[in-house]
Amino acid sequence: MQRHKPLAQLYSAYTTEDFQVWQLLFKRQMNLLRPQASKLYLKALEDIGFNGDEIPHFEKMNKRLESFTGWKVVVAPELVPQREFFQLLSQKIFPATCWLRTMAELDYIEEPDMFHDVFGHVPLLTNEAYADFMEGFGKLAMKWIDVPEIIALLGRVYWFTIEFGLLHEKNMPKIFGAGIISSPGETANSLSDASVKLSFDITQMLSTDYRTDILQPVYFTIKSFEQLCAALPEIEKSLAALTYAEKYCY
Ligand SMILES: [Fe+2]
Repeated sequence: MQRHKPLAQLYSAYTTEDFQVWQLLFKRQMNLLRPQASKLYLKALEDIGFNGDEIPHFEKMNKRLESFTGWKVVVAPELVPQREFFQLLSQKIFPATCWLRTMAELDYIEEPDMFHDVFGHVPLLTNEAYADFMEGFGKLAMKWIDVPEIIALLGRVYWFTIEFGLLHEKNMPKIFGAGIISSPGETANSLSDASVKLSFDITQMLSTDYRTDILQPVYFTIKSFEQLCAALPEIEKSLAALTYAEKYCY
């Protein structure tokens, strides 16, 4: 499908269909998320000020983000290459698309659009511990950026936390990962008996592969974003041990 992928947000270029898509997706997801999302995501959504009637303005959103954690969002036409992506995270910058799927693609879209990138990822960047983890993760990835095997393992950590992570609240798993937050299918699947919920464990996470084309069979549940931040040195140690083992033990 021929799609226009802007390099900058031109707000007046959004069509009536774009507004309808945003509103439909926003309302539908909010109905599902109110009882099932982490209260930290729901609070972050209020803090960032998104609503169903207005496609978020990047400029406005950046002013809010700036006042909470100093992060900012830049427009990317599509998925950015890994080196650039991790470099941006290390500088407290999140790249996001500013185009929306069409009405015909409401339920599924292969590549991330603005609803995933902005509704899914941006609100929690107002949360200090979450934002610190993202920055620390970017810095850690940049140390290993020239070692593809390590970057692939770090990709698993990103996948099972930032994209598909759950958070324990009052002994119940709640949703915070952007891949779940922006998808009705994932929202239902992640908290149902159809999927396995594992406690956050670096060794297990690093050795668990994932697929991008199915509903996730396994999710990891963290206790807090502070736990994620505190795990960064352990992640680094595990990666260093793995490269050492590869160099000298095989
Ligand atoms: Fe994402």
